[in-house]
Amino acid sequence: MARLLIRNARVLDPSQEIDRESDCLIEDGRILELAPGLPGEGAEILDAEGAWLAPGFIDIHTHLREPGQEYKEDLASGGTAAVAGGFTQLACMANTDPVNDDPSVTKYILDRAEKDSPARIRPIAAATRRLEGKVMTEMMALREAGAVAFSDDGATIMDTSVMRRVLEYSQLAGVPVIVHAEDCHLRANGVVNEGPVATRLGLPGNPAAAEEIMIARDIRLARLTGAHLHVAHVSTAGGVESIRQARDEGIRVTAEVTPHHLTLTDEATMGFDTSTRVAPPLRGAADVAALRQALAEGVIDAIVTDHAPHASYEKEVEFTAAPPGMIGLETAVAVTLELVREGVLSPLEFVRRLSTNPASLLALEGGTLRKGAPADVVLLDPDREWTYDAAQGFSKSRNSPWTGRRLRGRVVATVVAGRLVYHHERGVLIR
Ligand code: DOR
Repeated sequence: MARLLIRNARVLDPSQEIDRESDCLIEDGRILELAPGLPGEGAEILDAEGAWLAPGFIDIHTHLREPGQEYKEDLASGGTAAVAGGFTQLACMANTDPVNDDPSVTKYILDRAEKDSPARIRPIAAATRRLEGKVMTEMMALREAGAVAFSDDGATIMDTSVMRRVLEYSQLAGVPVIVHAEDCHLRANGVVNEGPVATRLGLPGNPAAAEEIMIARDIRLARLTGAHLHVAHVSTAGGVESIRQARDEGIRVTAEVTPHHLTLTDEATMGFDTSTRVAPPLRGAADVAALRQALAEGVIDAIVTDHAPHASYEKEVEFTAAPPGMIGLETAVAVTLELVREGVLSPLEFVRRLSTNPASLLALEGGTLRKGAPADVVLLDPDREWTYDAAQGFSKSRNSPWTGRRLRGRVVATVVAGRLVYHHERGVLIR
């Protein structure tokens, strides 16, 4: 009987509306009790010293690059970066090589992750073969193999009738379709937000309308089919407005936002730092304000990293040639704590958007500290300051705009299935 007692924590559990000082007793990989002053006999004891204790964070939008691009990331390095960043569970995107469009790839990811990753990993399967937007995947077989959602992330299914069928079949599989909403013809070769910054930089712009049009189309299709549509990394005020209206009408649409779209504007690209080239692009200040408001109101359900590792040699090129994406697993929590300090989110709502809501969106176990739940927890010191350096991190890639930045808020410890897998002073304990 393995026991772990975490003492003197501020326990934050949105699933039970709990925000209070407490201890947490874990036994055999499950939550046993939350109460102050629990006895520690026979237990390993961890003193939280007042840190926040929350259900482990769950990132439902990560690129782990295995199989096929292990020079950027693999399930071991990505899973390790995850636990160092406070994430106990990840859903990984299908744009691997080969694409996760076949049950054999889904099973491969699950088998490898079981052996290699300290975080739990759930594969998202492709909606269409090779992400080409033409031929649907065998959704039922992929679901049976362990896929938790379908997505051609990175690519939009431009053929509206294919998208309709994908939504219809996703209902049989009982999981959402996650969309990267961007009209690729309107985006064309745009690499930054279309607007004054793009003009000043002399870089091709990607207009907000490219996202807004596709979100509007997909909402119409969600209404037509009744399927659950989940909008990935929403970045525009117009997109948010469509989602708000659709939800008011009772359409099954949910949404997520990244730490970078919540905290950076297109001004961050002024130095041509290619780590700020992301898809969708960083937008203007009015968009950022709209995203923050929608997150606070619950119109946006979840915060996700869109952790997108790329090798230095791929990113150290001119802006237009760099692949889009930035890493984020190790900085997401500290970066988004800014919203708590600014009063956009309470600590409890912060945890809800990083843990409880992502779990419920993909029907994953976790996101709660209820008795009997898997003991996946994170301890977080919201005030500890540190300087981030991607080169010292656990990800294989370094494409982060936050290198060299002073960040506030640090993961103290991460527990998966009752085992301490990461401690900020002791490092990664179980790989
Ligand atoms: O910035 C991004 N990078 N956005 C995407 O949609 C894909 C991702 C990647 O795979 O690198």
